Amino acid sequence: MSTAVKLPARESAPHEMSDYDVERIRADFPILREKAHGHTLVYLDNAATSQKPKAVIDAIVGYYEHENANIHRGVHYLSERATEEFELARKSAQKFINAPRPSEIIFVRGATEAINLVAQTYGRTHVHAGDEVLITAMEHHSDIVPWQILCEQQGAKLKVAPINDRGELILAEFERLLTPRTKIVGVGHVSNALGTVNPVREIVTMAHARNIPVLVDGAQAAPHVAIDVQQLDCDFYAISGHKMYGPTGIGILYGKQALLEAMPPYQGGGDMISSVTFEKTSYNRVPHKFEAGTPDMAGAIGLRAAIEYLQKLGMNNIAAHEHQLLEYATRAVSAIPGVRIIGTARHKASVLSFVIEGVHPHDIGTILDQQGIAIRTGHHCAQPVMECFKIDATARASFGIYNTKEEIDALVRGIKKVQEVFA
Ligand code: ALA
Repeated sequence: MSTAVKLPARESAPHEMSDYDVERIRADFPILREKAHGHTLVYLDNAATSQKPKAVIDAIVGYYEHENANIHRGVHYLSERATEEFELARKSAQKFINAPRPSEIIFVRGATEAINLVAQTYGRTHVHAGDEVLITAMEHHSDIVPWQILCEQQGAKLKVAPINDRGELILAEFERLLTPRTKIVGVGHVSNALGTVNPVREIVTMAHARNIPVLVDGAQAAPHVAIDVQQLDCDFYAISGHKMYGPTGIGILYGKQALLEAMPPYQGGGDMISSVTFEKTSYNRVPHKFEAGTPDMAGAIGLRAAIEYLQKLGMNNIAAHEHQLLEYATRAVSAIPGVRIIGTARHKASVLSFVIEGVHPHDIGTILDQQGIAIRTGHHCAQPVMECFKIDATARASFGIYNTKEEIDALVRGIKKVQEVFA
């Protein structure tokens, strides 16, 4: 394990790499040198969680070896140092999604917590009996269940905009479902089960024309495409750190300042207050109002390292690399007789879900695993999507910055092996 001393805190974004050198990137990820069942590891389960570059691992180790102290509380050297690093992580996150202000970035456990936070704060104050919350049929459970809970609490109704056979949102239907009763929209930027990229800007425009705010679940978008919340004009944006090469247990909720200021707190505790008496508590300013208790300092600092790593590669270079991989994989896998791709949207990112005639997806996953190939099988926490396609499950390969065409060739050989076993 590295004992590298961290460089002094630095605010500027690193320069983009001009050439995309996948072998150099792979060398930054120690886990990619692991073997699985004696085979070279082929990691194609990035939508579940991504692997971590040495820079992220070192940042976490460096934090604990050199900077650990509680933040926003102490007057001593380490506390001030840790506070400065934590707040720099917030600024990195702000720049990563082009948020106007660092105070619009709230550190949370992940996209799930971000959506629950909005449902229970903005939602509880704005959604009342008879009101509606509109989501789409391709949402992950984390962008369904928090709204369902809210609707049950408030006596409101959850409405669902349908998708077509390709797994694309039917925009005209979505627009038709926006009514004077709709109080908030929740939409995934990229579907984890299908890979569909939703036209978020158009969705936001439709909703805003009716004064309805939009929350975007960006868990599957942040690792793959450049995000600009000002261009999208969304009101909330949720991100999980662990899917974008950062640590587990840390994520980002972006919210527009005016909305965050008007929202009640989510959890009570230390740091979210400005004064407490038994009679009355007044709350801290945003973002601290939403960060009760000691936060995941190491996580935020690790996330900053991940953001800097991605910025060095350049999000547009990443998107181009992964687009090539997805096209190559789509062509190769769809050419295999008996294999059907689930999710054929015209605009997709990094996810290839498929089924093989006569083979349960869990068996696909197991046989691929024996060859060192890691994919995810099942409903992918998106059971309603499976229902739309009238299936129980899919096998899903999902690509990241370090994947190669050779790994896709291995996947194709693996799929053919599955078919041989079940012939
Ligand atoms: N949401 C994660 C996935 O799609 C866990 O696999």
